[in-house]
Amino acid sequence: MTNPVLRCYAAIQIASWDHPPQTSNWTDIDQMKVILTGATGFVGLEVLKQCLQNLSITSVVVLARRELPATVSNNPKLTVKIITDFLSYSDDLISDLRGAEACIWTLGKPLSSDNDILREVCIGYTLAALKALDKAVAPAGKRFRFVYCSGRLAERDQNKPLYFAQDYRRIRGQVENEIVAYGEDNTDTIETFIVRPGVVLTKGMHLSCVAFRVTPSIPVDKVASQMVDLALAGSKRQTWENSRMISERIS
Ligand SMILES: NC(=O)c1ccc[n+]([C@@H]2O[C@H](COP(=O)([O-])OP(=O)(O)OC[C@H]3O[C@@H](n4cnc5c(N)ncnc54)[C@H](OP(=O)(O)O)[C@@H]3O)[C@@H](O)[C@H]2O)c1
Repeated sequence: MTNPVLRCYAAIQIASWDHPPQTSNWTDIDQMKVILTGATGFVGLEVLKQCLQNLSITSVVVLARRELPATVSNNPKLTVKIITDFLSYSDDLISDLRGAEACIWTLGKPLSSDNDILREVCIGYTLAALKALDKAVAPAGKRFRFVYCSGRLAERDQNKPLYFAQDYRRIRGQVENEIVAYGEDNTDTIETFIVRPGVVLTKGMHLSCVAFRVTPSIPVDKVASQMVDLALAGSKRQTWENSRMISERIS
């Protein structure tokens, strides 16, 4: 790397990483069953790969509307449940999910002009899962962990004027508000976590693409590892902003 700006940028990036972007194999954790959504997407597929590699995770149940790529679908730790309706959870499905201690939710809709669909997918699907899984699947005496992938620009203040993507950002903020409120009302049975990444970069891109410094960003493997660690070990901190996900280890 001859360009001094790139060299300096790379050094700052490397120095700001507390740990490499692999998930921790938490030795003090019983082996865990994890539910995952969004696994056919960019972030979710990386979460899936890390879950499959993680020795602390024995079983991953993916809820998806279509099959996963062949590169991952044959892994013996993986079960894929094809779901046609993400608003309802049958007794049979709950039975298959029983024993899971965490759900990592990366299912999400990119910016769209149809607010009804956005509300259904972003708010409806997420809350339906949260409520269906809480109290129903975690082993006795354990609190279920729900780890939600939001975004840095989601706005929780529903009255704040926003100068672009107002509806989308409020809808995404409303999901966060509802997750937080549900968690506060059900502290005996559930722990909720929200990650708020900026632009999610493909692996390695952060070292070469200076343009991305104009907006906060994070490599996909780092977002994924932080979510997997939240699922495995929880955290005192409920909401993880982009900058904190880069600079701190989940604890
Ligand atoms: N990528 C970024 O730079 C970035 C930055 C900040 C926040 N985020 C957030 O992170 C989350 C994941 O992002 P991503 O980049 O991985 O998105 P993505 O590649 O578009 O993946 C979205 C996932 O959600 C699923 N999904 C979308 N609509 C669905 C529906 N109606 N029914 C069932 N499944 C549906 C997709 O399934 P199909 O494959 O079947 O469509 C896919 O698995 C999103 O909430 C996104 O807003 C992303």
